[in-house]
Formats: sequence, C-alpha cells, structure tokens
Amino acid sequence: MSEKKEAWGSRLGLILAMAGNSVGLGNFLRFPVQAVQNGGGTFIIPYLVCFLLMGIPLLWIEWSMGRFGGSKGHHSTPFILGSMGSGSLWKYVGVFGIFTNIAVAAYYCYIESWTLSYTFHSIRGTFTGLSQTEIAQYFSDYVNMTTDFLGVPNEAILFFVICILINTYILSKGLAGIEQVAKIGMPLLILFGIFLAIRGLSLGTTASSAEFPLANAWDGLNYLWTPQYDSLLKPGIWLAAAGQIFFTLSVGMGTIHCYAAYINSKEDIALNATSAGFTNEFVEVVLGSLIVVPIAAGYFGLDWVKENIGFGMAFQSMPFLFSQWGSFLAALAGIFWFGLLFFAGITSSLAMGTPWMGFMRDEFGWGRIKGALSFGFLTLCLGLPCVIFYKYGFFDQYDYWAGTVSLVIFALAETILFAWVFGIDRGWQEINEGADIIIPKIYKWIIKFVTPLLLIFVFLGAFFTPEGNNWADAFDLVFSGYGWPLDNSSLLMQINNSGLKETLAGSTDMKQVETIANQIFFANMARLFLLSLFIGIALLVYIAYRKRKNKS
Ligand code: ALA
Repeated sequence: MSEKKEAWGSRLGLILAMAGNSVGLGNFLRFPVQAVQNGGGTFIIPYLVCFLLMGIPLLWIEWSMGRFGGSKGHHSTPFILGSMGSGSLWKYVGVFGIFTNIAVAAYYCYIESWTLSYTFHSIRGTFTGLSQTEIAQYFSDYVNMTTDFLGVPNEAILFFVICILINTYILSKGLAGIEQVAKIGMPLLILFGIFLAIRGLSLGTTASSAEFPLANAWDGLNYLWTPQYDSLLKPGIWLAAAGQIFFTLSVGMGTIHCYAAYINSKEDIALNATSAGFTNEFVEVVLGSLIVVPIAAGYFGLDWVKENIGFGMAFQSMPFLFSQWGSFLAALAGIFWFGLLFFAGITSSLAMGTPWMGFMRDEFGWGRIKGALSFGFLTLCLGLPCVIFYKYGFFDQYDYWAGTVSLVIFALAETILFAWVFGIDRGWQEINEGADIIIPKIYKWIIKFVTPLLLIFVFLGAFFTPEGNNWADAFDLVFSGYGWPLDNSSLLMQINNSGLKETLAGSTDMKQVETIANQIFFANMARLFLLSLFIGIALLVYIAYRKRKNKS
C-alpha cells in the first residue's frame, strides 16, 4: 500500500465525524414528517423506546464490530463480518454494508444538492417577494428540470454534479478531510439550528393576522410534544419509529463499522458511541422538532401542517415563511436553514463513501484518489436517473429498498452474528474493552434477546403490513379464516407494484394511464439497477476472497 495507514486525528474529531455521519437530512426533514404523519405525541414514546432498545445497542454492536475488524486490517463490512463468523456466507451478508451506502448516496446527494442550490438562491435573493404558490412552483420547476442557474440549463443536474464533485474532492483527502468538515460543519449546523429553533419557540401567535388567521406555533409544539399512550398498541407507529431510528442513526448501513475500523483496538468505544448517539438525538428531537413544524404552524396553523407535511415543505414553504421576517432576516434565515441542511447532508454522504473506499483499498490496493473518484463515478451513474426520472418515483424506489429495507435486513443479520454466532460473552467483552463508562449489565441481555426480537418484529411488520395498517382487524380476519389482507405498502405488495397496478386498472384517463405505466417501468428499472449493484459488489467480494486464498 502506497499511502500511510489512516487513523483519526483526535477523539473529538472521531466523535464529530460519527455524529456528523448520523446527523443528516433525516434529522431535519424526515423526523418532523414521520412525527406529524404518525400523530405527533403518539410517535414520541415508541421512538424513544426504539432508540434505547434498538438504536443504542446497534451503535455499540457496530462500533465494536468495526474496531474488531479494523484490528485485523478490515475496513468494510464484508471482511469484518467474515472475520467474526465462521463459514463463507457472512462476507456476502457484508455486501449490504457497501451496497446500501452507494445506493443511498446516489439519491441522498440529490437532496443535498437542492440544499446547496437553495443556499445560493437565498444569498442571491431569488425568493424575495415571491408568494407561497410561486415558491412551491419554483420547487416543482426545479425537480422537473426546467430551471436554469445563471444561464446554465438544467439546474438540478448542475447542482447534483457539483455536489458529487465536492464529496469526491473531500473524500480524496481521506479521514483528515472528513474530520475537518465535521469540525467545521457540526458546530455551525448546531449554531444555525439554535437560531432557527429560538425563532420557532418564540413565534407563538405573533403572526396571527388577516392573512394568517390560524397562526399558532404553540399548536405545532404541543402536537409533537404531548405524549399519547394509545400508540403503544399500534404496530404501524412502532414500525415508523423503528424506521426513523435506523435512518437517523445510520445503523444497519455499514458506515459506523467503517469509521470505527480506524480506532485503536484499546481505545474506548462505549462512551464514544453513546456520545455520538445522544448528540444525534439532541439535534433530532430538540432542534429537528423546533424548526419546520412550529414555524409552519406559526403562520398557516396546525391543520395546514398536518395536511401538507412532506420533506418538500422545507423547500416549498420555508423561504416564503422566512420572507415574513423582513429582507435581512429572511436572507439570513434562508442561508442558515439551507446551509444547516447542507452541512447535515454532507457529513453523512461523506461517510457513505468510506466503506467502498476502505474495501477497494484493503482488497485491491486502490489509493484515496482512485477510491474517491470511483465512488463519485458510481454515485453519479446511479444518481442521475433519480434526478431525471424523479417524477416517476425512481428516487422513491432507492429510498425504499436501499434506505429502508436493506438497513433492517443487515441490522438483523449483524445482531444475530454478534450476539449468537460470535457469542454475546465475547461481544460484551469487545464492547467493554477500554470503555470509559460502565454500561448497565442489562444491556447484555437486551442485545442478546430484545434487540433481535424487535428487529424480527420490524422486518415481519414491513413484510406483512396489513391493509390500512390495521392490525387488530387483520388478526380478526385471519382467525375467522379470511386470510391476511395485505396493504399495498407492504414489502410483498411493493415487489409486485400492486398499488400502481390497482390504480392503473381503475383509470380511464389516458394521461394518467401513461404516467402510471411509466412509474411501473421506472420502479422495475430502479430495482434492476440496485440488484446489479449488489451483484457487482458481491462479485468483487468473491474476487477479493479468491485473491486472499491464493496468497495464503
Ligand atoms: N443518518 C443520516 C440522516 O439522518 C443518513 O440523514
């Protein structure tokens, strides 16, 4: 290997990079949407329970697996998992830990590129004087690729390419580059977030007027923060909460293993992992819930928020709401908001590049520049269809299969490996090696039984989601001999494009028929791309394995 061995520069750098890996667009865009769509206060208890029983244990598992693999010279999941389990299959399970990152980076960098573009537009004052409808229209024009940037056509593609170039450049600097970005990006992000959260907290009913008769930011906060205990019996809400925990902590992805593989084998991971996890939760639960929801409710009222919530709201409505604060504050808030999203996004997308780079370096001797360029190239090729065919749901397919399903499969497999194959006694010793905190012993039991059971529940729940997410009715039906009514959002029905096919069958409008036929076509194409990527990486793992075998 031509380059010197990589390592983190400092403990602070490592924690900030790990926290940056977790803190991402999910904290500010996905969390408020999930919370509002799942009943606000009904979401929060399942969410916190999933954090404690699944999130935190998975963080300890992944950090310790990474450090263990790193001590044996492995920096990506195929051979980290391979070194912990006997038999040749585990290294192929580890393929998920590279696959997911490339596939998620492909669509994630696209949203990241919106935040970059919107930061520039906030600086230029593009949104000044535009009405809510005009700003919403601007966003649709953007994603439909009819906007240009200073005369350069196809702004969406332009910013996507710029975003990939920035990621590639930083990745080519190795861990030092990532650490540097995290050291600048994380404090700035928190600062920007606090500024906007104070505004969200202090808005109250001050905007109430003839134009905004329903304005009440408190309603938004109360809705999110008043716990409702009836949710404890609703599996659908548990599934949504578990999905959010996965995405926000970046567990089940393979990035944490990779970052942890560069930690010295005697160094603490227990406290580091806990600190990074709680930093993410502070940013998500405190800052993430104090910006979009209360500010939007502070003008349009809570009912409007409930009807219109979606991650596009951050782009379609926030610039208009900021413009109510006068031109100077509007520009500042726009820069802070989109800048915050950009920093949140880039510290996560950089992490997604490292498993591929670590693997190619370990197995094929590729240096940082070659590794970064190849990651950039792969992300660009897989991401461009998301940009171009966004309106046909190409993007959503990546988000569902790579950003949701893969995470659960991989997390379940690695937990079984860690607690049952590698063995909980050895695993527990790994977690506690060099620990700067005493982890409550009950977690040994939780990791062995509770976390895998919860993961199995999440997996089966997603596989067999009943119609309308109504579990009580579904059990009644099944016990009365009528079978299990599957919802179109269940994994089984998604594979078959059932929802789209149903709408197609009931449609007489030719234009709608054409759009749905396109959606079905692009859904299948997106899956084909993902499958090819997975098989391609599995082949590389096989070649690497043969190479190792021939050497020994
Ligand atoms: N954990 C990252 C996020 O929340 C992927 O966006």
